[in-house]
Amino acid sequence: MLDIKVTKTTAPKEKPAGALGFGKIFTDHMFVMNYTEGLGWHDARIEPFADISLSPACVVFHYGQEMFEGMKAYRGENGETYLFRPERNAARANESNRRLCIPEIPTDIFVEAVKAVVKVDEDWIPTEPGTSLYIRPFVIATDAFLGVAPSKTYLFMVILSPSGAYYSEGLAPVGIWIEDDYVRAVKGGMGYAKTGGNYACSLAAQVKAHDAGFSQVLWLDGVERRYIEEVGAMNIFFKIDGKVVTPMLNGSILPGVTRNSVLQLLTSWGIPCEERRISVDELLEAQAAGKLEEVFGTGTAAVISPVGKLRYKDDVMTIGDGGIGELSQKIYDTITGIQTGKLDDPFGWRVMI
Ligand code: COI
Repeated sequence: MLDIKVTKTTAPKEKPAGALGFGKIFTDHMFVMNYTEGLGWHDARIEPFADISLSPACVVFHYGQEMFEGMKAYRGENGETYLFRPERNAARANESNRRLCIPEIPTDIFVEAVKAVVKVDEDWIPTEPGTSLYIRPFVIATDAFLGVAPSKTYLFMVILSPSGAYYSEGLAPVGIWIEDDYVRAVKGGMGYAKTGGNYACSLAAQVKAHDAGFSQVLWLDGVERRYIEEVGAMNIFFKIDGKVVTPMLNGSILPGVTRNSVLQLLTSWGIPCEERRISVDELLEAQAAGKLEEVFGTGTAAVISPVGKLRYKDDVMTIGDGGIGELSQKIYDTITGIQTGKLDDPFGWRVMI
Protein backbone atom coordinates (compact mmCIF):
# COMPACT_ATOMS: atom_id res chain seq x y z
CA MET A 1 0.00 0.00 0.00
CA LEU A 2 1.36 3.39 -1.00
CA ASP A 3 1.32 5.95 1.77
CA ILE A 4 -0.08 9.04 0.05
CA LYS A 5 -0.26 12.38 1.85
CA VAL A 6 -3.32 14.25 0.62
CA THR A 7 -3.56 18.03 0.76
CA LYS A 8 -6.85 19.27 -0.66
CA THR A 9 -7.19 22.63 -2.34
CA THR A 10 -8.87 25.39 -0.39
CA ALA A 11 -9.89 27.11 -3.63
CA PRO A 12 -11.66 24.58 -5.89
CA LYS A 13 -11.98 25.77 -9.47
CA GLU A 14 -15.22 26.21 -11.40
CA LYS A 15 -16.07 23.11 -13.42
CA PRO A 16 -16.08 23.82 -17.15
CA ALA A 17 -19.35 24.41 -18.95
CA GLY A 18 -19.68 23.80 -22.68
CA ALA A 19 -17.25 22.20 -25.10
CA LEU A 20 -14.16 20.80 -23.40
CA GLY A 21 -11.76 20.30 -26.29
CA PHE A 22 -8.80 18.06 -25.51
CA GLY A 23 -6.20 18.58 -22.77
CA LYS A 24 -6.89 22.25 -22.10
CA ILE A 25 -8.52 22.21 -18.67
CA PHE A 26 -6.98 20.73 -15.52
CA THR A 27 -8.62 19.50 -12.34
CA ASP A 28 -8.01 20.68 -8.77
CA HIS A 29 -5.32 18.16 -7.78
CA MET A 30 -2.26 16.29 -9.00
CA PHE A 31 -0.24 13.32 -7.80
CA VAL A 32 3.48 13.85 -7.17
CA MET A 33 6.24 11.43 -6.08
CA ASN A 34 10.00 11.90 -5.98
CA TYR A 35 12.80 9.54 -6.85
CA THR A 36 16.26 9.87 -5.38
CA GLU A 37 19.07 7.46 -6.17
CA GLY A 38 19.70 5.33 -3.09
CA LEU A 39 16.27 6.11 -1.64
CA GLY A 40 13.98 4.95 -4.45
CA TRP A 41 10.51 6.40 -5.03
CA HIS A 42 9.37 8.40 -2.02
CA ASP A 43 7.10 11.16 -0.73
CA ALA A 44 3.94 10.19 -2.58
CA ARG A 45 1.44 13.01 -2.30
CA ILE A 46 -1.67 14.55 -3.78
CA GLU A 47 -1.53 18.33 -3.87
CA PRO A 48 -3.54 21.18 -5.32
CA PHE A 49 -2.81 21.45 -9.08
CA ALA A 50 -0.18 24.16 -9.44
CA ASP A 51 2.91 25.23 -11.36
CA ILE A 52 6.11 23.52 -10.25
CA SER A 53 9.49 25.09 -9.71
CA LEU A 54 12.56 23.44 -11.27
CA SER A 55 16.15 24.42 -12.00
CA PRO A 56 16.58 25.63 -15.59
CA ALA A 57 19.48 23.16 -15.72
CA CYS A 58 17.24 20.09 -15.27
CA VAL A 59 18.16 17.17 -17.52
CA VAL A 60 14.62 16.96 -18.92
CA PHE A 61 14.85 20.46 -20.43
CA HIS A 62 18.06 19.76 -22.31
CA TYR A 63 18.16 16.07 -23.16
CA GLY A 64 14.50 15.11 -23.00
CA GLN A 65 14.83 12.32 -20.42
CA GLU A 66 11.14 11.77 -19.73
CA MET A 67 8.29 9.39 -20.36
CA PHE A 68 4.52 9.84 -20.36
CA GLU A 69 1.37 7.78 -20.53
CA GLY A 70 -2.22 8.44 -21.60
CA MET A 71 -5.23 6.90 -19.84
CA LYS A 72 -8.85 7.81 -19.21
CA ALA A 73 -11.42 7.61 -16.41
CA TYR A 74 -15.08 7.22 -17.29
CA ARG A 75 -18.28 7.83 -15.38
CA GLY A 76 -20.76 4.94 -15.41
CA GLU A 77 -24.52 5.40 -15.66
CA ASN A 78 -24.93 4.96 -11.91
CA GLY A 79 -22.10 7.27 -10.98
CA GLU A 80 -19.34 4.63 -10.87
CA THR A 81 -15.78 5.58 -11.84
CA TYR A 82 -13.94 3.26 -14.22
CA LEU A 83 -10.42 2.94 -15.58
CA PHE A 84 -9.58 0.87 -18.68
CA ARG A 85 -6.77 -1.72 -18.44
CA PRO A 86 -4.57 0.45 -16.17
CA GLU A 87 -2.02 -2.33 -15.59
CA ARG A 88 -1.21 -2.29 -19.30
CA ASN A 89 -0.35 1.40 -19.13
CA ALA A 90 1.77 0.74 -16.05
CA ALA A 91 3.62 -2.03 -17.89
CA ARG A 92 4.14 0.15 -20.96
CA ALA A 93 5.34 3.03 -18.76
CA ASN A 94 8.10 0.74 -17.52
CA GLU A 95 9.05 -0.29 -21.06
CA SER A 96 9.49 3.41 -21.79
CA ASN A 97 11.32 3.91 -18.49
CA ARG A 98 13.80 1.16 -19.30
CA ARG A 99 14.49 2.64 -22.73
CA LEU A 100 15.02 6.09 -21.24
CA CYS A 101 17.16 4.89 -18.26
CA ILE A 102 14.44 6.10 -15.88
CA PRO A 103 13.92 3.97 -12.75
CA GLU A 104 10.90 1.69 -13.03
CA ILE A 105 7.74 2.36 -11.04
CA PRO A 106 6.23 -0.85 -9.62
CA THR A 107 2.96 -1.57 -11.45
CA ASP A 108 0.86 -1.58 -8.28
CA ILE A 109 2.27 1.78 -7.20
CA PHE A 110 1.63 3.33 -10.63
CA VAL A 111 -1.97 2.08 -10.63
CA GLU A 112 -2.56 3.09 -7.01
CA ALA A 113 -1.30 6.61 -7.73
CA VAL A 114 -3.66 6.96 -10.70
CA LYS A 115 -6.63 5.59 -8.77
CA ALA A 116 -5.95 7.85 -5.79
CA VAL A 117 -5.79 11.12 -7.69
CA VAL A 118 -8.77 10.20 -9.90
CA LYS A 119 -10.75 9.39 -6.75
CA VAL A 120 -9.95 12.79 -5.24
CA ASP A 121 -11.09 14.59 -8.42
CA GLU A 122 -13.80 12.17 -9.56
CA ASP A 123 -16.44 14.89 -9.59
CA TRP A 124 -14.46 16.33 -12.55
CA ILE A 125 -15.25 13.32 -14.77
CA PRO A 126 -17.49 14.70 -17.51
CA THR A 127 -20.61 12.77 -18.46
CA GLU A 128 -21.52 14.06 -21.94
CA PRO A 129 -21.24 11.37 -24.63
CA GLY A 130 -17.73 11.23 -26.06
CA THR A 131 -16.13 12.87 -23.02
CA SER A 132 -13.92 11.45 -20.26
CA LEU A 133 -11.28 12.45 -17.76
CA TYR A 134 -7.96 12.20 -19.61
CA ILE A 135 -5.16 11.05 -17.31
CA ARG A 136 -1.57 12.02 -18.02
CA PRO A 137 1.03 10.23 -15.84
CA PHE A 138 4.62 11.28 -16.59
CA VAL A 139 8.16 11.16 -15.23
CA ILE A 140 10.77 13.89 -15.72
CA ALA A 141 14.49 13.88 -14.97
CA THR A 142 15.25 16.61 -12.46
CA ASP A 143 19.02 16.64 -11.86
CA ALA A 144 20.43 20.11 -12.43
CA PHE A 145 23.38 18.97 -14.56
CA LEU A 146 24.37 19.71 -18.14
CA GLY A 147 26.43 16.56 -18.75
CA VAL A 148 24.72 13.89 -20.83
CA ALA A 149 23.98 11.15 -18.31
CA PRO A 150 20.91 9.59 -16.69
CA SER A 151 19.56 11.76 -13.91
CA LYS A 152 19.75 10.56 -10.32
CA THR A 153 16.51 12.30 -9.33
CA TYR A 154 13.05 12.27 -10.92
CA LEU A 155 9.50 13.44 -10.44
CA PHE A 156 6.53 11.19 -11.20
CA MET A 157 3.34 13.17 -11.60
CA VAL A 158 -0.24 12.46 -12.65
CA ILE A 159 -2.41 15.30 -13.93
CA LEU A 160 -6.04 15.10 -15.05
CA SER A 161 -7.91 16.88 -17.80
CA PRO A 162 -11.67 16.63 -18.50
CA SER A 163 -11.69 16.23 -22.27
CA GLY A 164 -13.80 15.68 -25.34
CA ALA A 165 -12.69 14.26 -28.70
CA TYR A 166 -8.96 14.51 -29.54
CA TYR A 167 -9.66 15.73 -33.06
CA SER A 168 -11.82 18.78 -33.62
CA GLU A 169 -13.69 16.61 -36.16
CA GLY A 170 -15.03 14.46 -33.24
CA LEU A 171 -15.96 11.02 -34.62
CA ALA A 172 -16.15 12.46 -38.15
CA PRO A 173 -13.48 11.00 -40.47
CA VAL A 174 -10.09 12.71 -40.49
CA GLY A 175 -7.73 13.32 -43.38
CA ILE A 176 -4.28 11.73 -42.99
CA TRP A 177 -1.06 12.69 -44.73
CA ILE A 178 1.33 9.80 -45.51
CA GLU A 179 4.72 11.41 -44.95
CA ASP A 180 7.36 10.45 -47.50
CA ASP A 181 10.23 12.70 -46.41
CA TYR A 182 10.57 13.01 -42.63
CA VAL A 183 10.66 9.82 -40.53
CA ARG A 184 9.59 9.27 -36.92
CA ALA A 185 11.67 6.33 -35.73
CA VAL A 186 13.98 3.51 -36.76
CA LYS A 187 14.64 0.09 -35.30
CA GLY A 188 16.92 0.42 -32.30
CA GLY A 189 15.63 3.95 -31.69
CA MET A 190 12.89 4.73 -29.21
CA GLY A 191 9.79 4.56 -31.41
CA TYR A 192 8.08 2.06 -29.12
CA ALA A 193 8.56 4.28 -26.06
CA LYS A 194 6.13 6.98 -25.06
CA THR A 195 8.53 9.86 -24.72
CA GLY A 196 8.44 13.51 -25.72
CA GLY A 197 11.26 13.19 -28.27
CA ASN A 198 9.09 11.06 -30.55
CA TYR A 199 6.46 13.78 -30.55
CA ALA A 200 8.88 16.70 -30.90
CA CYS A 201 10.30 14.97 -33.95
CA SER A 202 6.81 14.68 -35.47
CA LEU A 203 6.01 18.39 -35.38
CA ALA A 204 7.63 19.54 -38.62
CA ALA A 205 5.73 16.95 -40.65
CA GLN A 206 2.55 17.70 -38.73
CA VAL A 207 2.80 21.39 -39.61
CA LYS A 208 3.34 20.41 -43.25
CA ALA A 209 0.27 18.13 -43.15
CA HIS A 210 -1.87 20.79 -41.45
CA ASP A 211 -0.84 23.39 -43.99
CA ALA A 212 -2.06 21.03 -46.70
CA GLY A 213 -5.40 20.54 -44.92
CA PHE A 214 -4.75 17.17 -43.23
CA SER A 215 -5.21 16.40 -39.52
CA GLN A 216 -2.32 14.03 -38.84
CA VAL A 217 0.74 12.34 -40.27
CA LEU A 218 0.97 8.64 -41.06
CA TRP A 219 4.60 7.57 -40.76
CA LEU A 220 6.42 5.18 -43.02
CA ASP A 221 9.36 3.03 -41.89
CA GLY A 222 12.59 4.96 -41.46
CA VAL A 223 14.74 2.83 -43.80
CA GLU A 224 12.80 2.14 -47.00
CA ARG A 225 9.98 4.66 -46.47
CA ARG A 226 7.68 2.00 -47.80
CA TYR A 227 6.01 0.28 -44.89
CA ILE A 228 3.22 1.77 -42.78
CA GLU A 229 4.10 2.46 -39.13
CA GLU A 230 1.69 4.60 -37.09
CA VAL A 231 -0.02 7.98 -36.89
CA GLY A 232 1.89 9.74 -34.07
CA ALA A 233 -1.21 10.03 -31.85
CA MET A 234 -2.69 6.63 -32.78
CA ASN A 235 -2.07 3.19 -34.28
CA ILE A 236 -3.63 2.48 -37.66
CA PHE A 237 -5.87 -0.30 -39.03
CA PHE A 238 -7.00 -1.06 -42.60
CA LYS A 239 -9.93 -3.20 -43.71
CA ILE A 240 -8.93 -4.66 -47.04
CA ASP A 241 -11.26 -7.05 -48.83
CA GLY A 242 -13.01 -8.13 -45.62
CA LYS A 243 -9.80 -8.66 -43.63
CA VAL A 244 -8.38 -6.26 -41.04
CA VAL A 245 -4.63 -5.57 -41.08
CA THR A 246 -2.45 -3.45 -38.84
CA PRO A 247 1.33 -3.00 -38.77
CA MET A 248 3.00 -5.52 -36.50
CA LEU A 249 4.87 -4.27 -33.44
CA ASN A 250 8.40 -3.98 -34.77
CA GLY A 251 10.14 -1.87 -32.15
CA SER A 252 9.55 1.44 -33.88
CA ILE A 253 5.80 1.83 -33.26
CA LEU A 254 3.87 2.29 -30.05
CA PRO A 255 2.22 -0.82 -28.56
CA GLY A 256 -1.17 0.82 -28.09
CA VAL A 257 -3.57 -0.40 -25.40
CA THR A 258 -6.53 0.39 -27.68
CA ARG A 259 -4.74 -1.35 -30.57
CA ASN A 260 -4.43 -4.52 -28.49
CA SER A 261 -8.06 -4.27 -27.36
CA VAL A 262 -9.32 -3.88 -30.94
CA LEU A 263 -7.34 -6.94 -32.06
CA GLN A 264 -8.91 -8.98 -29.24
CA LEU A 265 -12.39 -7.70 -30.07
CA LEU A 266 -12.07 -8.48 -33.78
CA THR A 267 -10.78 -11.97 -33.03
CA SER A 268 -13.71 -12.57 -30.66
CA TRP A 269 -16.09 -11.49 -33.46
CA GLY A 270 -14.49 -13.95 -35.89
CA ILE A 271 -13.22 -11.16 -38.15
CA PRO A 272 -9.91 -12.16 -39.72
CA CYS A 273 -7.13 -9.82 -38.66
CA GLU A 274 -3.41 -9.79 -39.27
CA GLU A 275 -0.47 -8.00 -37.68
CA ARG A 276 2.13 -7.71 -40.42
CA ARG A 277 4.10 -5.40 -42.65
CA ILE A 278 1.87 -3.32 -44.94
CA SER A 279 3.43 -1.36 -47.76
CA VAL A 280 2.03 1.88 -49.05
CA ASP A 281 1.93 0.22 -52.51
CA GLU A 282 -0.40 -2.44 -51.13
CA LEU A 283 -2.76 0.33 -49.99
CA LEU A 284 -2.64 2.06 -53.37
CA GLU A 285 -3.34 -1.23 -55.14
CA ALA A 286 -6.20 -2.13 -52.78
CA GLN A 287 -7.70 1.30 -53.32
CA ALA A 288 -7.38 1.00 -57.10
CA ALA A 289 -9.11 -2.40 -56.94
CA GLY A 290 -11.90 -0.98 -54.75
CA LYS A 291 -10.83 -3.23 -51.87
CA LEU A 292 -9.67 -0.62 -49.32
CA GLU A 293 -12.93 -0.64 -47.39
CA GLU A 294 -12.15 1.16 -44.13
CA VAL A 295 -9.26 2.86 -42.37
CA PHE A 296 -9.30 3.84 -38.71
CA GLY A 297 -6.88 4.90 -36.02
CA THR A 298 -6.88 3.65 -32.43
CA GLY A 299 -5.56 5.38 -29.34
CA THR A 300 -6.48 6.38 -25.81
CA ALA A 301 -7.02 9.99 -26.76
CA ALA A 302 -8.26 9.30 -30.29
CA VAL A 303 -10.39 6.23 -29.24
CA ILE A 304 -11.45 4.94 -32.68
CA SER A 305 -10.91 7.57 -35.30
CA PRO A 306 -12.20 6.88 -38.82
CA VAL A 307 -9.99 8.05 -41.66
CA GLY A 308 -11.87 9.49 -44.62
CA LYS A 309 -8.95 10.58 -46.76
CA LEU A 310 -5.35 9.41 -47.19
CA ARG A 311 -2.80 11.38 -49.16
CA TYR A 312 0.41 9.87 -50.55
CA LYS A 313 2.53 12.02 -52.88
CA ASP A 314 0.14 13.00 -55.70
CA ASP A 315 -2.57 10.50 -54.77
CA VAL A 316 -5.47 11.45 -52.52
CA MET A 317 -7.55 8.38 -51.70
CA THR A 318 -11.08 8.76 -50.41
CA ILE A 319 -11.80 5.78 -48.21
CA GLY A 320 -15.16 4.16 -48.90
CA ASP A 321 -17.63 6.99 -49.27
CA GLY A 322 -15.49 9.21 -47.02
CA GLY A 323 -17.85 8.61 -44.09
CA ILE A 324 -17.63 6.42 -40.97
CA GLY A 325 -17.22 2.76 -41.90
CA GLU A 326 -19.62 0.20 -40.45
CA LEU A 327 -16.90 -1.77 -38.70
CA SER A 328 -15.21 1.40 -37.33
CA GLN A 329 -18.54 2.49 -35.84
CA LYS A 330 -19.17 -0.94 -34.31
CA ILE A 331 -15.70 -1.02 -32.73
CA TYR A 332 -16.15 2.52 -31.41
CA ASP A 333 -19.54 1.69 -29.88
CA THR A 334 -18.23 -1.50 -28.31
CA ILE A 335 -15.01 -0.09 -26.88
CA THR A 336 -16.70 3.01 -25.45
CA GLY A 337 -19.61 0.86 -24.22
CA ILE A 338 -17.19 -1.35 -22.29
CA GLN A 339 -15.21 1.63 -21.01
CA THR A 340 -18.26 3.43 -19.65
CA GLY A 341 -20.02 0.36 -18.21
CA LYS A 342 -22.89 0.39 -20.73
CA LEU A 343 -21.86 -3.00 -22.13
CA ASP A 344 -20.69 -6.23 -20.53
CA ASP A 345 -16.96 -6.57 -20.15
CA PRO A 346 -16.16 -10.13 -21.23
CA PHE A 347 -12.42 -9.43 -21.26
CA GLY A 348 -12.21 -8.01 -17.72
CA TRP A 349 -10.78 -4.71 -19.00
CA ARG A 350 -12.81 -2.34 -16.84
CA VAL A 351 -11.54 -1.48 -13.38
CA MET A 352 -13.90 0.21 -10.94
CA ILE A 353 -12.33 2.65 -8.51
C1 COI B 1 -2.90 9.09 -25.97
O1 COI B 1 -3.62 8.60 -26.83
O2 COI B 1 -3.16 9.00 -24.77
C2 COI B 1 -1.68 9.78 -26.30
O3 COI B 1 -0.83 9.87 -25.47
C3 COI B 1 -1.52 10.42 -27.61
C4 COI B 1 -1.17 11.85 -27.38
C5 COI B 1 -0.21 12.30 -28.37
C6 COI B 1 -2.38 12.71 -27.27
